[in-house]
Amino acid sequence: MAATAEKRRCGVSSFLVFLFSVFSLCHSSFSGETFRRNLSVELNPGSPSSPSGGDLLHVRAVGVNDTLHFLFCSQGAPTLLLVHTNSSSSTVEVNWTQFEARNISGGLKVEPENTVMYSSALVFSRLLEYDDVNDTADPTADPFPPYELQDFTWSRLKLSGLSALLCGAAETFTNGSLCLELSVFESGGRDHSWPRLLHTANSSQLRVWLDGMLPRATRSRFLLELRAVGDPSPLSRVEVHRSIDDEFTPSIFKVSQWVSSANGSSDVSGYLQWKPVAYRQADAALEFATPCRHSDPRPQSPEETAAASGLIRGFYGAPQTFGLNVSFGLAGEPFYNSTKFFSWTVLLGAGSPPVDSFSPLVLAMMAVGLGTPTVLLLMGGVCVCIRKRATDYEPIN
Ligand SMILES: *[C@@H]1O[C@H](CO)[C@@H](O)[C@H](O)[C@H]1NC(C)=O
Ligand SMILES: *[C@@H]1O[C@H](CO)[C@@H](O)[C@H](O)[C@H]1NC(C)=O
Ligand SMILES: *[C@@H]1O[C@H](CO)[C@@H](O)[C@H](O)[C@H]1NC(C)=O
Ligand SMILES: *[C@@H]1O[C@H](CO)[C@@H](O)[C@H](O)[C@H]1NC(C)=O
Ligand SMILES: *[C@@H]1O[C@H](CO)[C@@H](O)[C@H](O)[C@H]1NC(C)=O
Ligand SMILES: *[C@@H]1O[C@H](CO)[C@@H](O)[C@H](O)[C@H]1NC(C)=O
Ligand SMILES: *[C@@H]1O[C@H](CO)[C@@H](O)[C@H](O)[C@H]1NC(C)=O
Ligand SMILES: *[C@@H]1O[C@H](CO)[C@@H](O)[C@H](O)[C@H]1NC(C)=O
Ligand SMILES: *[C@@H]1O[C@H](CO)[C@@H](O)[C@H](O)[C@H]1NC(C)=O
Ligand SMILES: *[C@@H]1O[C@H](CO)[C@@H](O)[C@H](O)[C@H]1NC(C)=O
Ligand SMILES: *[C@@H]1O[C@H](CO)[C@@H](O)[C@H](O)[C@H]1NC(C)=O
Repeated sequence: MAATAEKRRCGVSSFLVFLFSVFSLCHSSFSGETFRRNLSVELNPGSPSSPSGGDLLHVRAVGVNDTLHFLFCSQGAPTLLLVHTNSSSSTVEVNWTQFEARNISGGLKVEPENTVMYSSALVFSRLLEYDDVNDTADPTADPFPPYELQDFTWSRLKLSGLSALLCGAAETFTNGSLCLELSVFESGGRDHSWPRLLHTANSSQLRVWLDGMLPRATRSRFLLELRAVGDPSPLSRVEVHRSIDDEFTPSIFKVSQWVSSANGSSDVSGYLQWKPVAYRQADAALEFATPCRHSDPRPQSPEETAAASGLIRGFYGAPQTFGLNVSFGLAGEPFYNSTKFFSWTVLLGAGSPPVDSFSPLVLAMMAVGLGTPTVLLLMGGVCVCIRKRATDYEPIN
């Protein structure tokens, strides 16, 4: 009888030790995300009325000794600009006369100018469609004329909390629209919808989707052409890293990062980061995941980029630009027509890109998987030991 009670006590305490180790593991995977910024959002700063050419959103993200300015604009092709300053009191000044004329730089400035450490911008320049008659997913096989996003009719920006929605369509769209949703963050975390990219307070997220548009062929597939600018170092190469397959983005083992090729201190740079996956339903789920690919970044005409985007012209003039295409769907995958929807998500941030770690659930499962046999072994050993001692000292019945 004494031996069974001992065994039970022994089991309970081992289980407590086990639970404690699981929780401490989970806790340590969260505790790195405490960096916060104070965010303020302003639409069309300094403009007396709604500008006719498109809205300009300014998000100020103030840290201890620095500020990130996120600017999102639909004057021309949709553009997201990120400016990192080493002062917590830097501001954005817009001369709307110059900014809307879109013919000289300096219409938008970050003051004082000598606090600017780094800036980068992403332009969504074109939507490309091709007829994949032979299901080879070769974009060059049978392309349709591209849709220039600078010629789209864009809605006003719809703000809700720390996100903004912009939708637009070409005149020739029979139905549907292309939408971009910008999200900014006070602290680190993950979005609620897939691919649930890991973000920090130093990054912003853009989700882009094409919904309900009537394709020009039943076997149409799509590409997005992106252009990126970085100052002082341009974003000129894409690194593909291994990533973890876990509950957040199952079945995706890679993460792509468009970075500058200049080495050196990581806090004076920026990045674009995405997972090579798109979703064929608004309500993203594993069965609607479709792989995507990117082409190699190639130098683009600075003048053309500046002409396409009011924000690029206003802040940079005509900067050195690299461009690439992201194509959605591989050979054998369903065509756009099957759901008339695809969505894709990308982060633009300052500093070094976030690195995925295992989620608490996966960690807990690993702890259970690896920990249980160990605990059982230990428990067995301890109990045998106690029993042996008990039998040594108790009189034999
Ligand atoms: C953010 O705002 C709070 C309250 O206004 C303030 O206490 C805190 O110091 C601010 N943090 C930063 C990083 O500016
Ligand atoms: C912010 O700047 C002050 C004064 O320059 C300095 O004392 C402090 O250490 C800085 N804080 C951080 C977090 O860099
Ligand atoms: C804005 O630019 C216009 C045209 O260059 C100029 O006439 C005007 O003075 C500027 N406004 C301000 C407030 O600087
Ligand atoms: C820019 O455009 C405005 C209005 O269209 C015009 O008045 C101005 O002269 C132009 N400036 C330059 C440098 O071309
Ligand atoms: C901010 O950066 C500018 C330019 O890089 C530099 O001249 C200035 O000293 C920096 N200020 C601080 C407080 O680090
Ligand atoms: C599709 O395949 C047919 C037969 O192999 C070929 O003649 C045609 O050129 C291909 N079309 C495209 C766009 O590759
Ligand atoms: C366009 O969308 C409307 C509303 O969803 C739908 O009723 C209509 O059939 C669509 N037109 C075409 C050509 O798909
Ligand atoms: C964000 O940027 C600030 C300032 O550059 C840096 O101190 C901080 O570690 C960064 N946070 C993350 C999560 O990258
Ligand atoms: C950057 O560093 C890597 C290895 O650390 C090196 O292979 C590469 O040549 C460097 N690139 C530049 C532009 O210095
Ligand atoms: C994207 O693809 C289109 C069509 O194949 C091509 O004309 C364009 O140059 C590509 N853009 C980039 C940046 O590679
Ligand atoms: C694809 O589009 C054609 C018309 O363009 C339509 O008849 C067909 O039903 C569509 N297929 C699917 C799966 O929606």
